[in-house]
Amino acid sequence: MARASRTFICQACGAVTPRWAGRCESCGEWNTIVEEAGASSGVAGGPPQLVGKTKGRHIALVAMAGETAEPPRLVTGVAEFDRVCGGGLVPGSALLIGGDPGIGKSTLLLQAMAALGKRGAEVVYISGEEAIAQVRMRARRLGLADAPVQLGAETNLKDIIATLENGTPPAAVVIDSIQTMWTEALESAPGTVTQVRATAQDLVRFAKRHGTAVILVGHVTKDGQIAGPRVVEHMVDAVIYFEGERGHQFRILRAVKNRFGPANEIGVFEMGELGLQEVPNPSALFLGERDGDTNGSAVFAGIEGTRPVLVEIQALVAQSSLGTPRRAVVGWDSGRLSMVLAVLDARCGLTLGGQDVYLNVAGGLRINEPAADLAVAGALVSSITGTPLPRDCVIFGEISLSGAIRPVSQMEARLKEAEKLGFKRAILPASAARARPATGLDVTEISDLAGLVAKLAAGSKPRTRERAGEI
Ligand code: TYD
Ligand code: MG
Repeated sequence: MARASRTFICQACGAVTPRWAGRCESCGEWNTIVEEAGASSGVAGGPPQLVGKTKGRHIALVAMAGETAEPPRLVTGVAEFDRVCGGGLVPGSALLIGGDPGIGKSTLLLQAMAALGKRGAEVVYISGEEAIAQVRMRARRLGLADAPVQLGAETNLKDIIATLENGTPPAAVVIDSIQTMWTEALESAPGTVTQVRATAQDLVRFAKRHGTAVILVGHVTKDGQIAGPRVVEHMVDAVIYFEGERGHQFRILRAVKNRFGPANEIGVFEMGELGLQEVPNPSALFLGERDGDTNGSAVFAGIEGTRPVLVEIQALVAQSSLGTPRRAVVGWDSGRLSMVLAVLDARCGLTLGGQDVYLNVAGGLRINEPAADLAVAGALVSSITGTPLPRDCVIFGEISLSGAIRPVSQMEARLKEAEKLGFKRAILPASAARARPATGLDVTEISDLAGLVAKLAAGSKPRTRERAGEI
């Protein structure tokens, strides 16, 4: 009898290897390789092998030009959720919502499904993690006890699909979570890459066949014990991550892939006693808790998706007592911070070698835009020189390695948002090639980082005197 071949799969990235190893060669994660039974390359998500003697059928190719209707949308009524999806759920599409355990995925989806049900659509919520009583209890807490949502507590995918196909398929189905689903066609345990892929594929197929919007919940785990949603990302039409710091009540829904709408769109929620409340004006919220005139704070006028968002960036530069000074960053890229520090050192003569640097984006938002460079530099220089930036001033611009400030996109939208929120001044990149954006703000154009440092240093109290006073 032929020996069954053994397959080992990395639970973090899905790479298949013929033997066990402590470290995955493909993604570099440790301790993520697990033997999975019944996983051949076909089952594991690869395309079926092209075998057999029959010839392929001819398919009709069509011209690119042609009429295509906009996909119809199932508007749930939770406006922030709808906007992140690109204007509502698309029938026949599959959506993945990923996030840390306990961040609020189940709460959000229960609220969205209840709202959609109240609009007359048939919706089903399948929980593989909680019992019906628990889901009902949460619904009661959220004030949604009588919403027309059909509940199911099941993890066997075959039974779930048979149930959904019995009668008219619903308009939307939530599967909470994909890591708990399993199909008996495979021997591996639920939550392994093989099971997650196979069940997700079946659900995507179900969505396409019946025109149902399928929402998959996926937990993101860093320890690699459970296959992350990354292995499902390429199968679904849209991937949305639910982010936020546990300690903060703000939650940010961010589209990272969307075949039917803009990616990078964000929706902002606040977790409260009555579940997730929408925050239609995030700038006011991110700036709401600003302290008085303190140094080390700068207001960045950013763009998240299609929306301008103002957010406070805080920096603290302090004498280090360690051999290697600390660089602690929350909400921004630490590599980018090193770059800004290097430019401040090399081009502006501000050496921070012996200082600890702390950087924090207020409110739990994560910024990815290079346009935040100048705001970060502003907050750092303000902390170093002890000069507060004007309270009514916004700042943005990208810093190049030469120390020059590069223009950024959508300047007018940024300035308009600042004006709307009562700001009076702006510091932004100078550009000869482009007309100054029309705005009612008092604009200061900066062409290189040294210019900003000189401007802030001019108003600074000399630090040495402060120190002398301390002694
Ligand atoms: P949950 O939706 O269960 O998270 P996930 O499905 O992503 O694992 O959210 C659970 C957390 O939310 C839990 O810590 C309690 C908190 N929460 C509130 O603060 N208020 C509420 O009204 C609800 C329902 C939950
Ligand atoms: Mg949950």
